Amino acid sequence: MTTKPSILKDLPADLDRERLPKHVAVIMDGNGRWAKRQGLPRIVGHRRGVDALKDLLRCCRDWGIEALTAYAFSTENWGRPLEEVDFLMTLFERVLRQELREMMEEDVKIKFVGNLDSLPKTLRAEIDRSVEATQNNSGIQFSVATNYGGRQEILQACRSIAAMVQDGKLQPDQIDEGLFEKHLYTAGICDPDLLIRTSGEMRISNFLLWQVAYAEIYITETMWPDFDRQAFHVALRDYQQRQRRFGKV
Ligand code: FPP
Repeated sequence: MTTKPSILKDLPADLDRERLPKHVAVIMDGNGRWAKRQGLPRIVGHRRGVDALKDLLRCCRDWGIEALTAYAFSTENWGRPLEEVDFLMTLFERVLRQELREMMEEDVKIKFVGNLDSLPKTLRAEIDRSVEATQNNSGIQFSVATNYGGRQEILQACRSIAAMVQDGKLQPDQIDEGLFEKHLYTAGICDPDLLIRTSGEMRISNFLLWQVAYAEIYITETMWPDFDRQAFHVALRDYQQRQRRFGKV
């Protein structure tokens, strides 16, 4: 994990730097509705969604947040119209290609969580390139959930642990939370402290089911393309007013 710089760039004075979440996860919802409200095609909403994500990543870095995870594409999103799915895959690929230089300059370490096997080959290649290029960066950990499903993630962890038991490499009573976490896509990344969902929907939508066990959930009516620094500031203020008890009194 990163060491916090002594002066955080533009951290609002009413936020306590000692009580910032270490890891923020976002369900970026409302791109389509945002576009529709402006009389624009849905894909314009996704394009603006990328801008909002880039701004949030920079903001997290400036304010000393160590990890950001964004839900870019769920296992259920394949059910969208083919043109929209194709558009999203091409958009991800293009953004990765265009942003790699900046991620290097800003010391971002990128990781992808999800079943990457069924993604288009050219996108896979871009993913591999960006993950490899940024693997030794020591700034913010940026995880992109792509073809991600929480249940599927848990199932694949079970399969891989079961195979170890079958091979005699592990005894069932050695399976504990620590071991289980090592078999999740997110192995090595701390659990999110704060989960933000935009567009007012009150659902987890199969996102990080294991990892959000004790996350604070913040839901805003703001559509994702409009979720800017100011909106994030409000979310963090709300988070800092919560008492996290982790099941204790
Ligand atoms: C949800 O809005 C948004 C998505 C399914 C796509 C989100 C993807 C991005 C913002 C691009 C991220 C890019 C990279 C490279 C990480 P929606 O379409 O469900 O909106 P609606 O609920 O209003 O229809």
